[in-house]
Amino acid sequence: MTRRAGTQETDLVLERAAGLGREFVAGLADRPVGPPVAVETLRRALGGPLRDAGEDPRAVLEALARGADPGLVASAGPRYFGFVTGGALPAALGADWLTSAWDQNAWTYVASPAASVVEETAGRWIVELLGLPPSTSVGFTTGATMAHFAALAAARSAVLARCGYDVEEQGLVGAPEIALFAGEAAHATILAAFQMLGLGRGRVRRVAADDAGRMRPDSLRQALAEVRGPAIVCAQAGEVNTGCFDPLDEIAPLCRERGAWLHVDGAFGLWAAASPTLRHLVRGVDGADSWTVDGHKWLNVPYDSGYVLVRDGAALRAALNVGAPYYPDPAAERENFHVVPESSRRARGFPTWAALRSLGRHGIAELVERNCALARRMADTLRGADGVNVLNDVVLNQVLVRFESRSADADAFTREVIRRIQADGTCWLGGTTWRGGAAARISISNASTTEADVDRSAAAILACVRAAAGKRA
Ligand SMILES: Cc1ncc(COP(=O)(O)O)c(C=O)c1O
Repeated sequence: MTRRAGTQETDLVLERAAGLGREFVAGLADRPVGPPVAVETLRRALGGPLRDAGEDPRAVLEALARGADPGLVASAGPRYFGFVTGGALPAALGADWLTSAWDQNAWTYVASPAASVVEETAGRWIVELLGLPPSTSVGFTTGATMAHFAALAAARSAVLARCGYDVEEQGLVGAPEIALFAGEAAHATILAAFQMLGLGRGRVRRVAADDAGRMRPDSLRQALAEVRGPAIVCAQAGEVNTGCFDPLDEIAPLCRERGAWLHVDGAFGLWAAASPTLRHLVRGVDGADSWTVDGHKWLNVPYDSGYVLVRDGAALRAALNVGAPYYPDPAAERENFHVVPESSRRARGFPTWAALRSLGRHGIAELVERNCALARRMADTLRGADGVNVLNDVVLNQVLVRFESRSADADAFTREVIRRIQADGTCWLGGTTWRGGAAARISISNASTTEADVDRSAAAILACVRAAAGKRA
């Protein structure tokens, strides 16, 4: 094969990129997690005006890697417990690199038959793993937020179509009012999706939740009885602070009786369905109309990776429908652009396909169960210590903690301990407000986290509690 001019240069650039990537990944477990870096340092290295003349590609990569390094967070590493953050499985990371090298436009079959078939296949695997209706349509989104957007666009379309109203054609002005419901502890991105869809986040009726954040079915029943016309209910599988699950087996029949569309936010918690020992937590999940789950959280696919799942694929397609004379046949059986809000986009199905193949059914269940066991280990270690109050029943991978001291206000003390933990760099966790008080969130979602990581992190957390209380560690 003759090689084009410039191929050798591309080889060298890719080799260097692979080398720099390998170095970073190899050092992940030993890097301080969340290093303190001044933004000015980064601006000095990476900012400034764009130069007139272009530069050698390898020199550009070196400059990027050198300049970015102090500002890179070891969030893919084993002791990053902030937000809900997964790492990157080796197969998924490798497939992600290939995705860039292949540079496929995944929007339509004809632009990348491989990307289409891989998303169709991986989508079917996810539906099977989660025990959802086999006919469910799946779209690959940037994350849960856009998956909510797509699912709730389908919901909006379907509930208005049942009233004889075509929202895609006519818009919302003059549309019948849709009653919107979400639990008190619903994730902010549910409200964001309603906001972006023109339904108004301020119009969402918040349904009372119990102390753990689970939507109360009696309150939902009552709230549904108070309204007429089309309705959308958002429940969740995996509350972001406590990890608890709304009682879907009670909520789904209420929605069905009322003809309300039920959407389930399972950004991370829906993966419990893939584990025989945890599946009971999502009992009734298959009674919903749409679901959201992320790949970049618990499946440990690199960013970005989310999935929208909709029982009635026709509703999803109606909501996201776009056409142009040069577009593929509108009657085509399945096109990626029918099921996500974008047209041109990254072929983000490849890393998901690789993650699922590399773990297999058993590996996925094992990953979820192992992370939950590590969360319990963390909670058990912290619970016995002076000044630590574990606030939640650790049913999944989330641990919610409040720090207390005899001499200081608990909110201020909790924030101070969090500050110290973040500055220490052994592990990283973030703060939240729970039931009106400050708390720390520990989310264990990384496939590479070990018992030793948890023990080392717990020791660092306790040392910060003692130091904040003025005692010597
Ligand atoms: C329950 C829940 N829903 C939605 C989201 C938003 O996910 P994303 O950042 O992928 O859009 C999160 C993120 O933590 C979450 O925990």
